Amino acid sequence: MSDSANTMWGGRFADGPDAIMEAINASIGFDHRLARQDIEGSRAHAAMLAAQGIITDSDAEAIRKGLLTVLSEIEGGTFVFSTALEDIHMNVEARLKELIGEPAGRLHTARSRNDQVALDFRMWVRDQCDAALTGIAALQKALLGQAETGADLVMPGFTHLQTAQPVTWGHHMMAYVEMLARDAGRFSDARARMNECPLGTAALAGTSFPIDRDMTAQELSFDRPAANSLDAVSDRDFALEFLSAASICAMHLSRLAEELVIWSSAQFRFVTMSDRFSTGSSIMPQKKNPDAAELTRAKIGRVLGATVGLFTVMKGLPLTYSKDMQEDKEQVFDAADSLMLALAAMEGMVRDMAANPEALRAAASSGFSTATDLADWLVREAGLPFRDAHHVTGRLVAMAEAEGKDLPDLTLDQMKSAHESITDGVFDVLGVDNSVRSRTSYGGTAPDQVRAQIALWKERLA
Ligand code: ARG
Repeated sequence: MSDSANTMWGGRFADGPDAIMEAINASIGFDHRLARQDIEGSRAHAAMLAAQGIITDSDAEAIRKGLLTVLSEIEGGTFVFSTALEDIHMNVEARLKELIGEPAGRLHTARSRNDQVALDFRMWVRDQCDAALTGIAALQKALLGQAETGADLVMPGFTHLQTAQPVTWGHHMMAYVEMLARDAGRFSDARARMNECPLGTAALAGTSFPIDRDMTAQELSFDRPAANSLDAVSDRDFALEFLSAASICAMHLSRLAEELVIWSSAQFRFVTMSDRFSTGSSIMPQKKNPDAAELTRAKIGRVLGATVGLFTVMKGLPLTYSKDMQEDKEQVFDAADSLMLALAAMEGMVRDMAANPEALRAAASSGFSTATDLADWLVREAGLPFRDAHHVTGRLVAMAEAEGKDLPDLTLDQMKSAHESITDGVFDVLGVDNSVRSRTSYGGTAPDQVRAQIALWKERLA
């Protein structure tokens, strides 16, 4: 064996790898992020090997101590990663050998890097599900805070970004609480499904050693060992599910971010973003830019890109492990980092921002926002079929528009000219406060209804 041949499989090889081979093959540049999971998995594996009498207790103890040293070196930043050692698994094992000698060579009994990487990555993604759940809950609390202070603050509700009907700020904030709750549900579901342990499935076929897979599964907080060894080493569904949930969540954040960008503009002035989450311009002294919101709006690009990327890597791969699957990690790392940062930034922005009641009310009162209330009044008080009421109201809107007025500014005579049965009682429903107060149906924007939802969510998130 030449000196340059790999120490892990050098027995079969006469020559070491070409530099380009090493460059395309190495994953240590990114999979060093799996160090903690790798060492946890190895500790559980060694303990199980000893419990089953496959290695001695003293070897297991040497391995346990050695792995702790390796972990502290990595966390302390003194560990020297080697590209020649390809990935985190071989870097850790090689260092363990330097530290404890011969027993290190027994750690890989009844295990392969295939089940090892499947385990490490799964545990990493499982942690990210937890991080996403924490980030989502924090953002929901910030939204609840906004909803509570603005439970009856009137603002325009939009469809097609055209003024539709008055709603409340609280109701609008609570819409995002609901969206994020579905995101949380997706991360929890994915977490529950991924919680099967692949360790001990070895290269692909299982092992002839009398291992105890229940023990390692339990030790590593999995619900059970994965039932099919071929599936366990080739499954990356857990990462795809995480990315899918992350994509939908990032899309939600993008929508909220877009609203903040619009609302904080000089044309809308619905909200003032805090200085802490804004930037200035190097040339225009008056500018206060919502950069954090814009970047949050953009993060979906990376997250969805990662999702499409990993689907494309996995598509068409035959069972079981193929090296293609090493391309699974960087995109998931980037997507997870992007999502956690976007959640944190959004939480900060929402917590800090201040609604502008005057601008919200003025906007809610313009654009004939209570036209539906007028039509509903005609149905309720004058007995018109809704389609006719819609038509009559449309004529009044056209009349008001031609005079540059809003609906409440029309005279009773003008109202009567559209339909003789209109009385001055109609003016009661044309104000925005009455409008929102009247929307008492379940899930509607009436302040009492919104307050009930806030109370419910405060309890759920407590
Ligand atoms: N670095 C590899 C990966 O991330 C580990 C598994 C290697 N397995 C193998 N049979 N070469 O996929």
